[in-house]
Amino acid sequence: MRLKKITHLMLALLLTVLAVYPGYAHAEAQNASASDTPEKKTIKVGLSADFAPYEFIMTVDGNSKIVGSDVMIAEQIASDMGAELQLENMPFDSLLPALQSGRIDMVISGMTPTDERRQNVDFSDLYYVSRQVILTRAGDVDKYKTMDELAGKPIGVQTGSIQEEIANGIPDAQVTAVKSISDVVSLLLSDRVDAAVFEGPVAESQVKNRAGLGIAEAVPEDSDTPMAIAVEKGNTGLLTQINSTLERLNSENAVDEYIRQANEMNTGETAPGNIFSFFWKYRGFYGDGVKYTLLLSALGVLFGFLIGLLIALLRLSGVKILKWIAVVYTEVLRGTPMLVQLLIIHFGFATAFDIKFTVLQSGIITLSINSSAYLAEIFRAGIQGVDKGQMEAARSLGMPYGMAMRTIVIPQAIKSVLPAIGNEFVVIIKESSIVSFIGVADLMFQANAVRTLTYSGLYPLVIAAAIYLVMTLILSKLLNVFERRLSAGDNR
Ligand code: ARG
Repeated sequence: MRLKKITHLMLALLLTVLAVYPGYAHAEAQNASASDTPEKKTIKVGLSADFAPYEFIMTVDGNSKIVGSDVMIAEQIASDMGAELQLENMPFDSLLPALQSGRIDMVISGMTPTDERRQNVDFSDLYYVSRQVILTRAGDVDKYKTMDELAGKPIGVQTGSIQEEIANGIPDAQVTAVKSISDVVSLLLSDRVDAAVFEGPVAESQVKNRAGLGIAEAVPEDSDTPMAIAVEKGNTGLLTQINSTLERLNSENAVDEYIRQANEMNTGETAPGNIFSFFWKYRGFYGDGVKYTLLLSALGVLFGFLIGLLIALLRLSGVKILKWIAVVYTEVLRGTPMLVQLLIIHFGFATAFDIKFTVLQSGIITLSINSSAYLAEIFRAGIQGVDKGQMEAARSLGMPYGMAMRTIVIPQAIKSVLPAIGNEFVVIIKESSIVSFIGVADLMFQANAVRTLTYSGLYPLVIAAAIYLVMTLILSKLLNVFERRLSAGDNR
């Protein structure tokens, strides 16, 4: 009876989340229209939208929009192909893995076709040539007249970029590599590094929009670096289509014009100085993030609950091999970091077994199996804590083992561990923030997007923390009420 109640509660929770989560409605609408007009396919373009004027995020009515000259190129390619364009924003160093595992069709992200990259992916014709410069604090521009003066200095770069290689080539430089361009700028402005290697137009856009930055006279060797579009190795069909669009754009000098337009759009964000107006300005980001966080946590706990119960029963089954499987399962999942589990499921499975989960699927699977291991231990303790007499009495009344377990033991066990299950739910809400790592647009991901956009290291994160806190407090309150209801039933 009580078990039923709990299952109902879980289902109700799941349905609520699915109802408020608009992504599903979208996905279905898209599928429907896709089957009506099979010609209209989607092309997925990966980019790291931290690279104004090439690709960056703009806030329009509290919501984020990815814009820039690379986006305009992507739009041209999509329209020439008669396809729907879908942009996938992710850290620069995740782009090539995403391309190689087939999650995106191409990368247009100011990427330089280096020999090393050419071994793993194919590149289109070049569409632009930019140059490398040294970005530094405004007061230091005269300090670095030649590259030699950078020797031994702390230098910031973006992980996985050619700038990282250039910096590593500076004698004795102490190189710090970080995920996004805005993090590099933060390193500079907070005096953690003295200089950064930057793509020229990107450095200029930073200088234009941020006080306290300047471009030094020193210029890295081989500073002219081209940009091209990457596709999966061997995808010549797509490459031919891309190249024909690029040929048209190059003949019209369109890319220069796109960059000019993008520079015009890139006026920099004026983030409000008051945290409440700050929140209000970026509310759309946070709202989108909360939906994913709730969806992930609800599904993670729901599946975790079911799998965990199963594992607990295996563990207590008395059959050696089943027990052994359950022990290994819980120990491995509880003894390894969730981040590692997430990356194995998302990237490892794609490479090793060609199982390509979407970011959302990988996130849900990881949260489910991870929480199932903790819940299994909670259930085991609960089941073992039920007085042996209960089972014996049920059996002596003639109930079969399974029925006695299901109707007598498990309901009592679950009730006694309810507070612990509630705790696990709270933990999952917080831990779900890890999925932002692979690019699920959850609350943490959105907080980082706002941070990238505003260069504010405090407000975006404090707001995210406050929202997590509100969610966990509400949940604890709900669980308290629910527990009290259950125990009220006992006294009747
Ligand atoms: N051109 C450089 C490279 O290929 C940097 C590109 C960084 N792009 C970006 N969207 N952050 O490594």
